[in-house]
Amino acid sequence: MTDRTPPHGYDIGLTDYGDTGFSRYLRRGFARSTGLSEKMLEKPIVGIATTRSDFNNCHRYMPELAEAVSRGVLAAGALPRAFPTISLGEVNLNPTSMMFRNLMSMDTEEMIRAQPMDAVVLIGGCDKTVPAQLMGAVSAGRPFVQLVTGPMSTSRHRGERVGACTDCRRYWGQFRAGTLDSEEIGAIETRLAATAGTCSVMGTASTMAAIAEILGVALPGSATIPAVDSARLAMAERCGEVAVELIRTPIAPREIVTAKSVENALRGLMAIGGSTNAILHLTAIAGRAGIRISQARLNAISDETPTIVNLKPVGEGYMEDLHAAGGIEAVLHELRPLLHLDTRTVEGRSLGDLLSAPPAWVDRAFIRPAQDPVSPLGGLIALRGSLAPNGAIFKRAAATPALFETEGRAVVFDGLEDLATRIDAPDLDVAAGDILVLKNAGPVATGMPEAGYLPIPRKLAQQGVKDMVRISDARMSGTAFGTIVLHVSPEAGVGGPLAAVRNGDRIRLSVAEKRIDLLVPQEEIDRRLAAIAPPPRPRRGYRALYARSVLQAEEGCDFDFLLPPPEA
Ligand code: FES
Ligand code: MG
Repeated sequence: MTDRTPPHGYDIGLTDYGDTGFSRYLRRGFARSTGLSEKMLEKPIVGIATTRSDFNNCHRYMPELAEAVSRGVLAAGALPRAFPTISLGEVNLNPTSMMFRNLMSMDTEEMIRAQPMDAVVLIGGCDKTVPAQLMGAVSAGRPFVQLVTGPMSTSRHRGERVGACTDCRRYWGQFRAGTLDSEEIGAIETRLAATAGTCSVMGTASTMAAIAEILGVALPGSATIPAVDSARLAMAERCGEVAVELIRTPIAPREIVTAKSVENALRGLMAIGGSTNAILHLTAIAGRAGIRISQARLNAISDETPTIVNLKPVGEGYMEDLHAAGGIEAVLHELRPLLHLDTRTVEGRSLGDLLSAPPAWVDRAFIRPAQDPVSPLGGLIALRGSLAPNGAIFKRAAATPALFETEGRAVVFDGLEDLATRIDAPDLDVAAGDILVLKNAGPVATGMPEAGYLPIPRKLAQQGVKDMVRISDARMSGTAFGTIVLHVSPEAGVGGPLAAVRNGDRIRLSVAEKRIDLLVPQEEIDRRLAAIAPPPRPRRGYRALYARSVLQAEEGCDFDFLLPPPEA
């Protein structure tokens, strides 16, 4: 680290006071107060973005991971400096964690930019934290490595394997239908999330970990190592080392996040049966690098990419099974003929180089061969039609094929409160073949909560109805399943046609045609929409900024002012 012409380490960005010498003297003086010797002060710096919080159980081992990263940084000859950013613990945030993803991305971007660091290791895990960190780091432009906290390990209830949180929903469904009593559901509660780490199925956190690995911003093999496995600490150490290599031989984030690596990530998303939320997040991450994901391309990729990973909620296994089966590298090996192999990873290698030799062993119970897949098609598709002129997302892999071509009567809920009050009412006018519609749960209206997994009305659940077509402008958890149309755009809250739907209207879903239509004449839809007053918007603070600046789902719900200028 001898030929360092540009300022590095504590000398980065010394512009305050207009007297560089004084700024340097002051900064070094204060750094001394942390106990650093002269030798340490001269070194380049690797920032470590940490996200520990008592409200974020998924990041419980953050201090140990940060310590392991520090070890790797020191051993490679640089100075580690850990710093906090906000942390988003999925289930503890009101009204929805989604509302704070962009805030965390701004925190991450600005703290990387503002503080003196030559490279950065980002440690995140829970659903919104990895997307937020990637969005921020791509915008900040400094070399970085993403490290995830890793998935939870499973537990047991009465001999059955249990893991967050597809099982949470299955058991809760049984409780609602009256086949499980409150004592047993209480016992299950103690087993759902038994270790540190992120949800143990192919939910949003696992999907984003896989996407980070496929994009090339996380190290090969790092997505799936269980949170509590010692191999994760060794991987953290290696991340520190790679960050130092990135100072010696810089690779800008935009050399890694490219149109080709984003396409690879989309393919990977299909192959793993990943979360619907990942479409929003990948769109937003790509958007920060000036890359757009078109719905036509998304559908083309979905139609030609088989689903090969057999994990819940689409299949049977848990993340620990995927890890033991060979992890993301083994998945990518199956997809090799479909991938762009000239993309780069943070280690400077090409994907083709990484996949040059087949994995030594693959457990075919969880990673199917591309020729004999879980499904010959990808898990997610975009729909369009008169109900969603700018698109909607449908997870066909987690839906009921018998409902793929459905025309039914709309049963409409005006918002989250209306849904909560009426869904279980004994006098609700609803039958098994109806289509449940939820309005006003989109990004501008409410921050887009995971309310799209509308419960089956209790009276139908008790009759044994397990699935119905459900439509909304909301999201759904990556761990959920059902015949559910999400992310309808434009949302009802900004006057999308969803706002015009009334009880008794006919709606038609066609998965074969990738369409979602409101079977009401367009003039009538327009007439109804013209009569609806726009709902009031928040007027102060972050919520006002959010409602004013958030883009619709097809643009990843980023803020309009965070996209790079078109020419950049
Ligand atoms: Fe954090 Fe599921 S709650 S990953
Ligand atoms: Mg989730």
